[in-house]
Amino acid sequence: MNVLLIGSGGREHALAWKLKQSPLLGKLHSIPGSAAIKGLADCPDIDQDDFRKIHAYCAANKIELVVVGPEAPLAKGISDFLTGKGIKVFGPSQRGAMLEASKQFAKEFMDRNSIPTASFSVLYDASFAREKIKENRKYPVVIKADGLAAGKGVRICADEAEALAAVSDLMEKRIFGSSGSKVVMEEFLTGREASVMALVDGESFLMLPPARDHKRLLDGDAGPNTGGMGAVCPAEITPADLETVRNEILQRFVDGVKKERIPFCGVIFAGLMFTPDGPRTLEFNCRFGDPETQSVLPLIKSDLLALLKACAEGNLAGRELEISDQACVSVVLAAGGYPENPEKGKEISGLYKVPADALVFHAGTVKKGDSYYTNGGRVLSVTATGKDPEEARRKAYEAAAAINFKGMQYRKDIGK
Ligand SMILES: Nc1ncnc2c1ncn2[C@@H]1O[C@H](COP(=O)(O)OP(=O)(O)O)[C@@H](O)[C@H]1O
Ligand SMILES: [Mg+2]
Repeated sequence: MNVLLIGSGGREHALAWKLKQSPLLGKLHSIPGSAAIKGLADCPDIDQDDFRKIHAYCAANKIELVVVGPEAPLAKGISDFLTGKGIKVFGPSQRGAMLEASKQFAKEFMDRNSIPTASFSVLYDASFAREKIKENRKYPVVIKADGLAAGKGVRICADEAEALAAVSDLMEKRIFGSSGSKVVMEEFLTGREASVMALVDGESFLMLPPARDHKRLLDGDAGPNTGGMGAVCPAEITPADLETVRNEILQRFVDGVKKERIPFCGVIFAGLMFTPDGPRTLEFNCRFGDPETQSVLPLIKSDLLALLKACAEGNLAGRELEISDQACVSVVLAAGGYPENPEKGKEISGLYKVPADALVFHAGTVKKGDSYYTNGGRVLSVTATGKDPEEARRKAYEAAAAINFKGMQYRKDIGK
């Protein structure tokens, strides 16, 4: 079958790499794709938000399945649009994507469906928010912008003054625009974090191995927040906790979307905190995580395209996932100046020196002649598998050491 992959980042490069291994694949296409994805797929010059042009391209190229990587086109309704034209899409409806695009919608969905999460209240305007904060006795407290804020809309507030400042920034100064028109105030949870993704066909799900990303720029979780500096899979989570995630989070999620008639064929990504009282859902994302995907896909032995197709056709039930018993570590090589002001246009050297058993997924590069140049904050996801996390890490760092570009920065403790 011919497949169209929407997106251009490291996650999509990893998806393209994995889809290419499927015996079911005819031709792979990608919009917009990237310099690296061009090596695996046809990449026409079409905007990923131009649904009409995408549909025309699908019709002209006999596309049988569209796989959507990023959240933005999902939140804009690409899945509803193309499904309405009779094209199969792996990626949830606009309402399904609201579970990521609105923290309020997600929290209320969790509440209705008894999915364990931090207790919360929704604050609809700044004066109401200030009243609620003055009544609050427990600190720290968590204040989250309702809408998408590129991973920057969450504040852990140590005291009342910080909470009031968060309200002023998000709701009055609108530092994230209309994303802060409402906020969610949440109980502060403690524990280790990990994420679990599952493939969903609307009624059944298949859980992927748990992963852990590293959001801070510097070793030891210091420095500013980023889109993610690397990931390890599997994250060490007890079998009992994983069963709780399966039964009380993923199962209830799938039952909930079915009961509430939210069309959801795609990935549910549960951001989790493993608290002393058990796993709690911090958030849902409605697509493959980046960089988690780069550390999860190399461990999947099953034919991913067969599974995504089964999701789109609504017959995931009874399918099994074959997973390698190895570990995988993916290290992000970021540009100088990342995350504030990443430098672009630096020539990348050493790619050819990377050992053959390591994988290099391109997140932000362009190609000129025979050379790749940096073209984004996160530049490459250097990935390796090994018999345990230590071996995977050693191999990933060996590969990373072969690569260089001016200003390159990366964490030395991914997966530790
Ligand atoms: N209730 C909470 N208690 C403690 N920490 C939290 C809580 N909610 C979020 N966090 C922290 O903030 C981070 C970002 O929150 P999240 O809900 O995942 O939003 P987003 O990824 O959209 O920024 C989490 O990874 C976690 O570290
Ligand atoms: Mg998150």
